[in-house]
Amino acid sequence: MISRFTEWAKAYGDIYTIKIASSTAVVITSPRLVKEYLEKRSSSTSDRPASLIAHTVTGGHNIALARYGPVWKSLRRTMQMFLTKEACNRHAPIMRAEATQLMYDCLKQPERFLTHVERTTASVILSTTFGFRCPRYESSLISEFFESQRRWEAVLEPGAHPPVDLIPVLKYVPERWASWKTQCKDIRRRQQKLYLGLRDRCEERIKDKCRNGCFLEDVLDKQEKLGLTREMVGYIGGACMEGGSDNSSIYLHAFLCCIIAYPEVQAKAQKEIDEVIGSHRTPTMEDIDNLPYVQAIMKELHRFRPVVPLSLPHASTADEMIDGYLVPEGSMIFMNVYGISHDEEAFDKPEVFMPERFLQSEFGTKPGADNTARRNDFAFGAGRRVCPGIQLGTNTVTLNIMNLLWAFNWKPAKDPVTGKEIPVSADNFTHGLVTGPLPFKCEITPRSQAHIDLIRSEYVAARSVFHPFEQELSPEDEAFVATW
Ligand code: HEM
Repeated sequence: MISRFTEWAKAYGDIYTIKIASSTAVVITSPRLVKEYLEKRSSSTSDRPASLIAHTVTGGHNIALARYGPVWKSLRRTMQMFLTKEACNRHAPIMRAEATQLMYDCLKQPERFLTHVERTTASVILSTTFGFRCPRYESSLISEFFESQRRWEAVLEPGAHPPVDLIPVLKYVPERWASWKTQCKDIRRRQQKLYLGLRDRCEERIKDKCRNGCFLEDVLDKQEKLGLTREMVGYIGGACMEGGSDNSSIYLHAFLCCIIAYPEVQAKAQKEIDEVIGSHRTPTMEDIDNLPYVQAIMKELHRFRPVVPLSLPHASTADEMIDGYLVPEGSMIFMNVYGISHDEEAFDKPEVFMPERFLQSEFGTKPGADNTARRNDFAFGAGRRVCPGIQLGTNTVTLNIMNLLWAFNWKPAKDPVTGKEIPVSADNFTHGLVTGPLPFKCEITPRSQAHIDLIRSEYVAARSVFHPFEQELSPEDEAFVATW
């Protein structure tokens, strides 16, 4: 779908429409139109398409899918209040401790690097949002979340269920012939148990005077003032988990895939890190300002393999004339992030992972390219629905990228029989609404004994930071923490 949308943009231009039964979808593939339509006219382009499935599962309480109206506005205002740069800085110690555990996990069990990354991003979100961390991938909160999330993503994929929004009569088909109804009930039950259950435990912690400074404690304190129901509070935490943990882990998987597929990029970044940081301390957030090449890698990764290549669809609430075309009220709007960042007129060899382009120009474009309204953060969407977790997500991935480059050399794994390298390709990506590399294997080698010693000692030091977030560990998790 992504490459087809981009091919059509080449054939039909920066704005075109697709008719799906009686509804219209408009696809925009230029920075200028993102600004003109999604930003300047955001008062009429900030709805989400009606989705019976989303409504049945979340009751309209999931901010990412909620219609543009008072509920969405309250949820959004709350998230923006608590996900500011300053608020995210308050969570820096737990983020750093989790990033240290990721290095330690890769040292101890390198073959599970993909799941270690998933654990880390999920645990960061769980700790910063609800105040509970998960020391291992098998921790029940993480497995319950991933199980519910897998089912949720599967039912939301286009074509996964009958077109109930286009042919409304389908919603009257009895459940025994409409398995999507059973699936929706199951997912609703799982999400409510998890999100509302975690909210309750957070309330208990406040009552017991055992706060650890997580985001939901602040929300609960101001719940009445913010006009939120108890259900909305739980769903705010759930939306952070859904929006934050998968996107960040997929971005980190894509990063590892690209530095293995492009070893010269890895070597250049490590040289820069060695010059600025050396081997006697681990990276800190402040280091990123002195690492222009690592910054360029991060921008190039958002350009080369945007995690949500068509962003999340917006919907229009009024007729609008755009570039001489009438976009009718009720249209679905796709921002073709992938197409914008793979435009051959703007980018030299767009299909090559080349961070250097961002050292040569601010937007990585070639000389003479039209940069009107271009930005480097299109991977986070645009307009009033732009991702509210940009700061938290960027902090998490920045610290982990610096650490993983600092600590290890990443190479393709070797076939145990032939001894030959199993190639890792940056073209082997999935093609859904959210895209990331297909599972791959690699060989991870610590960069020196000094690096190993530091990772071990920092992991021991991180235990005191973890402690307030481990108030309710299961006996299995406690045993893991004691022996890991
Ligand atoms: C690398 C990390 C991330 C990427 C690439 C990403 C990307 C996106 C994109 C493309 C959208 C759709 C924007 C639009 O409709 O125009 C979005 C929305 C959203 N993201 Fe993120 N995100 C990331 C991290 C996070 C984090 C850490 C959180 C939570 C703390 C989060 C929470 C959300 C929420 C709640 C929405 C829905 C906003 C709304 O509909 O009003 N995201 N994200």
